[in-house]
Amino acid sequence: MRILSGIQPSGALHLGNYFGMMRPAVELQEQGEAYYFIADYHSMTSVFDAEQRRTSIRNAALDFLACGLDPEKCVFFRQSDVPEHIELSWLLSTVTPLGLLERCHSYKDKLARGLSPNHGLFAYPVLMAADILIYDSTSVPVGKDQKQHVEVTRDIAIKFNAVYGECFVIPQPMIREESSNIPGIDGQKMSKSYGNTIDIFGAEKKLRQRVMELVMDSRSIDEPKPDADRNSAVQLLRLVAAPKLARECEKRLRAGGYGYGTLKKTLFEQYWEYFRKMREKREELSAQPDYLDEVLSQGAEKARIVAREVLGRARQACGLE
Ligand code: TRP
Repeated sequence: MRILSGIQPSGALHLGNYFGMMRPAVELQEQGEAYYFIADYHSMTSVFDAEQRRTSIRNAALDFLACGLDPEKCVFFRQSDVPEHIELSWLLSTVTPLGLLERCHSYKDKLARGLSPNHGLFAYPVLMAADILIYDSTSVPVGKDQKQHVEVTRDIAIKFNAVYGECFVIPQPMIREESSNIPGIDGQKMSKSYGNTIDIFGAEKKLRQRVMELVMDSRSIDEPKPDADRNSAVQLLRLVAAPKLARECEKRLRAGGYGYGTLKKTLFEQYWEYFRKMREKREELSAQPDYLDEVLSQGAEKARIVAREVLGRARQACGLE
């Protein structure tokens, strides 16, 4: 099994990133050969501030390491340190039907929200396909929102293989149902683009406030809440607290007489405790900036060996060599 996944450095990483992608990625590094990267080329479709990008790249890498990614166990690198991704992306784009990209939900969502799209945003899934195919990846752990992009990758790989002969391994998405619908503070799916995230790391006061902003309904404390399992604070609590405690809170909500304020306080405490060790690790890591540079440059070296080989195979297949 060769596992690959990437994360976009477009701002602070949040609980949706953590439970949807980072935690599964950390667990999987024990189970196969894993390649993980910071998708900085992808961030160019939505971030247009150089300094912000520089900072976000470092922060995302530190977050990932603090959350348990072990550069001894996996290959951890920065996408733009392996420019072979871009060349492969071009080769793939020439066998990609426009219709395939026009059907992508994430693209359509952005259009619907009034974003004026650049070509990079439209071609985003092709670059993602190159990221995946260039490592002969078999398995791609991603949040549910990225499932379609992995399906597009499969379609593109199958098409290239059909046109030029067997070249690429066809990858599978790996989706965790239980943690793929993480609610944000407004109850919609937690996403950077909805502005409803709770970050993994940050100042305690600010994050406490954020958790207290979770939107609840206006039912009184006394009223029983038979739909407690769908309450977003309960759903988040299930992720960060012992199952017994989460069940207990759910039961109290159902019974009535248990207020949302108390529930949110409990959620904050559990969330803060859940990330305590990681927070300490992150502080340690950010005190030694050379360490990160070292990790990323060694990762890129290892990644490039495979990327060059697979790109060479693709160039050969299509007659560039
Ligand atoms: N599009 C992914 C996201 O926004 C990030 C990403 C880029 C990725 N390339 C990838 C994920 C390749 C998995 C595989 O979350």
